[in-house]
This record gives sequence, C-alpha cells and structure tokens, in this order.
Amino acid sequence: MQPRLRVVGAPDPRDAFRADLHAALAAPQRAISPKYFYDAHGSSLFDAICALPEYYPTRTEVALLARHAGEIARLAGPGAELVEFGAGSLRKVRLLLDALERPARYLPIDISGEHLQQAAAALRREHPALAVQPVVADYTEPLQLPWPPAGAGLRLGFFPGSTIGNFDPAQALRFLRMAARLLRGGALLLGADLVKDPAVLHAAYNDAAGVTAAFNLNLLARANRELGADFDLEGFAHGAFYNSPLRRIEMHLVSRRTQQVALDGRAYRFAEGETLHTENSYKFTVDGLRALAREAGFSPGPVWTDPQRLFSLHWLSAPA
Ligand code: AVI
Repeated sequence: MQPRLRVVGAPDPRDAFRADLHAALAAPQRAISPKYFYDAHGSSLFDAICALPEYYPTRTEVALLARHAGEIARLAGPGAELVEFGAGSLRKVRLLLDALERPARYLPIDISGEHLQQAAAALRREHPALAVQPVVADYTEPLQLPWPPAGAGLRLGFFPGSTIGNFDPAQALRFLRMAARLLRGGALLLGADLVKDPAVLHAAYNDAAGVTAAFNLNLLARANRELGADFDLEGFAHGAFYNSPLRRIEMHLVSRRTQQVALDGRAYRFAEGETLHTENSYKFTVDGLRALAREAGFSPGPVWTDPQRLFSLHWLSAPA
C-alpha cells in the first residue's frame, strides 16, 4: 500500500526561517522570502484576503476555471493525474476535479504537512474513488515526485493564484523548467495576474479592512512566536506599492522609528523608514508569460482571460 503522506527533502522549516531571517536582517537591503507568511494564522489571513472586494485575482480566476473547466477537461483527456503546486484553494481544485473525466490521482505538493492533510481529507470524502497522495516538499527547490505517473492519462500540473508572480524572474524560469521536466508529455495549467491600472493593483494590496497589513505584519509575529525574536509590532507599518518599471507590487514592513530588534542574542538596528522587503508580486502580459514558458521548454497552448483582462489562465504543454 502507498503511504498517505510523503515527505520529500523537507528539513525542519523553523531552522530555515531562522537562518533566512538572520541573513535578511544582516543584509544592507533587507529582504526575506514570502513563503514565511504562511503559518496557520498567515494562511487563514491569506484566505481572508482572497475574499476581499479589492482583491480581484481569486474571484476572477475561479470564474475563469468555472467557465472553461469543460474545455480544460477535454484537453486533459480521461484518466489524467493532477499535480498541484501548493495545496492552496480547495475551491479551485474541486472545479477541475469535478470536470475531469475519471481523474486517476491527485498529488498536492505543499511545505505544510498539516494544511495538506486537511485538504486531502476533504477531497477523499468528496471523491472516494480518487487516489489522493499528498507530498510534503518545498516546490521552490528542485523536486522529483516519489511515484511514476499513475495510469495512462496525462500528468496535468496546476499552479493557480499567480503564485508564479511571487518568484523573481530567475526563480520563475527555474520553477517552470523543473515543472516542464516533472510534467513531461503532459501540461501545466498556470494562473497569472496581468499588468493593469496601477490604482487597481494598489487597492488590491492596501485593502480598506487592513487584512493585507495584518498578513504582512504576521511575519514579525511569527518570528516572535517561533524564533523568540522581539519585534515590536507597533513599531512597523505595512507598505505596499506598484513598482511600474519592474511591473511588480512590492510589500515591505516599514520601521516607524529608530529601533533595535533581537534574535538569538544578536541585535539588529532599524533606522526610521528602513524596511524589510517581504514580497514581490510580479504582474505579466499574456505574451510575456508565454515567452517565459517557451524559454522554460513548454509549448504554450490556449489562454483564457476575463473581459476586463485582469487575470489569465494558461495551458502550457510539456513536450515528452
Ligand atoms: C499568493 N500570492 C499570489 C499573493 C499575491 O497576490 O502575490 C499573496 C498576497 N500578498 C498580498 N496579498 C496577497
């Protein structure tokens, strides 16, 4: 019998957070990976962001998936195996699984085993005939799947939500190259947020209810909880703006005053206005994304967008 949960090269994530936070605080331009937003509290804040009126990506992508699921299922054919990078939104994967003809297996890959187990249990209840085999792994690192493809159907990767935009361009290319290898002979269904009016982008990352601010600040709260750091949460403000030459939203934690922070007995000084850069969220043009996918070895296929061209969903074939 196959084990229900496979851990692939994932050391204690707390050690990585500690090492990366020290490295970030010691650097002249402080920056840390956005993957550290997603502890249990951060993940529930992200779910709340997805429901905000200003945050258009989730509802737009869900509508695209609902509208085009039939066509996607036809492209995938019967007996496909679905590999999701991140066990994010059950809502999105359900739309696909409900449309696919006799899906052979669902492999969600996520760094958080707890999140995966919950998602897997919910899907097993809804699709008793579906083999659900979660993989605990960091898909931002080179990755091999522990099992060969199941059945004769195509292996379909799913990377929704424009999480690709949280990588810098070199990481995005590296991820896509890895995905093209993993999905050889199959395809990747990729969600990518589009370049648009900066005011719309600004509002999406500076919501009136302050949920995105809480999400950003949770990174410091998490460092206090897990690593024993002593960040004063009142001493930092949420900062998010659109960097239009680089076509990305930048999120920062901005020091409100001169202050010192201690981590493992080491003191780090922040000047007033100095920032810890916590996230980039790149925005794409349809052609730019297709060119990137081509460079990574994919053959770009159909693209679906909404009438306002807020968001795009790409079918990218991975040559055998
Ligand atoms: C997960 N990721 C695609 C989100 C984004 O829009 O870049 C994370 C996020 N950050 C602030 N709001 C949402």
